[in-house]
Amino acid sequence: MLSYQHAYHAGNHADLLKHLVLREVLAYLTKKPAPVTYVDSHAGEGAYDLSSPLAQRLREFEGGVGAALRASSKAPAPVRAFLDDVQALPGNKGGALRALLGSPGWAQRWLREQDRLFLFEQHPQAFPALQAALGKDPRVTVQRADGFAGALSILRAPTKRALWLLDPAYERREEDQEVIRRVRQVSRQLPGAVLAIWYPVVDRARTEALLEGVLEATAAPLLKLELSIAPDHPGRGMTGSGMLVANPPYTLAESFAEVLPWLMDTLAPAQGAGMLRWLRPAP
Ligand SMILES: C[S@@+](CC[C@H](N)C(=O)[O-])C[C@H]1O[C@@H](n2cnc3c(N)ncnc32)[C@H](O)[C@@H]1O
Repeated sequence: MLSYQHAYHAGNHADLLKHLVLREVLAYLTKKPAPVTYVDSHAGEGAYDLSSPLAQRLREFEGGVGAALRASSKAPAPVRAFLDDVQALPGNKGGALRALLGSPGWAQRWLREQDRLFLFEQHPQAFPALQAALGKDPRVTVQRADGFAGALSILRAPTKRALWLLDPAYERREEDQEVIRRVRQVSRQLPGAVLAIWYPVVDRARTEALLEGVLEATAAPLLKLELSIAPDHPGRGMTGSGMLVANPPYTLAESFAEVLPWLMDTLAPAQGAGMLRWLRPAP
């Protein structure tokens, strides 16, 4: 039963962190001419209309991309580059913020002709929207199927340069175990792949168990980038989120040493906290 709809949350602080990481990883992977395989196992709709009733209901984008745009003149270069991409979207002419892309839409822009995108989405409304947004691009394969199993079917030899974005909604507790199990399987099949795992901070004990499980499931270097907009509080919903990146490009820690404090000061000056930590350092 899929009840989660990402349109409510598009462009919030968690999306901003995730898409900044995505941009940085793809910028690194596309430096060499060799083709890149991008797997988005939990793709969402691909593009969002921020004037829609769903997005307007909570207006979460105001506290994420909206806040970043308002402070963009002082943003570090990687954030400014992302915000330039946001402002270049057709719906955002003249300084408006009406249109936003989801991870598949951004990846489509940031990848090249020789690269391939494999997108998985199961939601009955999100899937046709995703297909309509990206399905005509010959580089893109869109499937209405389980993204965990889908990723496992693609991320194997002879694939070489690959990024798997895992962005489940974590609606069910069992999803944590599924993330850990699939990370273990993919890490065995394709140990050099970059895995970018998004996680929410709702209940700190649950978050820590997920991170420990992933650490145990892969032997790869593991970088944690976390942004909280409020102190941990189990009754308060999502107070933060993070990206756990296996085999991160060396550029990621360098750039986020500057990006994270800026995000913290800009999105949550009073209560924010940012954390950059190697759970397993690069050799
Ligand atoms: C957090 S949203 C994705 C947001 C998107 N990655 C982005 O950054 O724009 C998670 C999506 O995963 C979908 N989903 C949940 N379980 C899935 C599964 N097992 N396989 C594929 N899609 C799934 C949900 O319907 C939802 O649209």
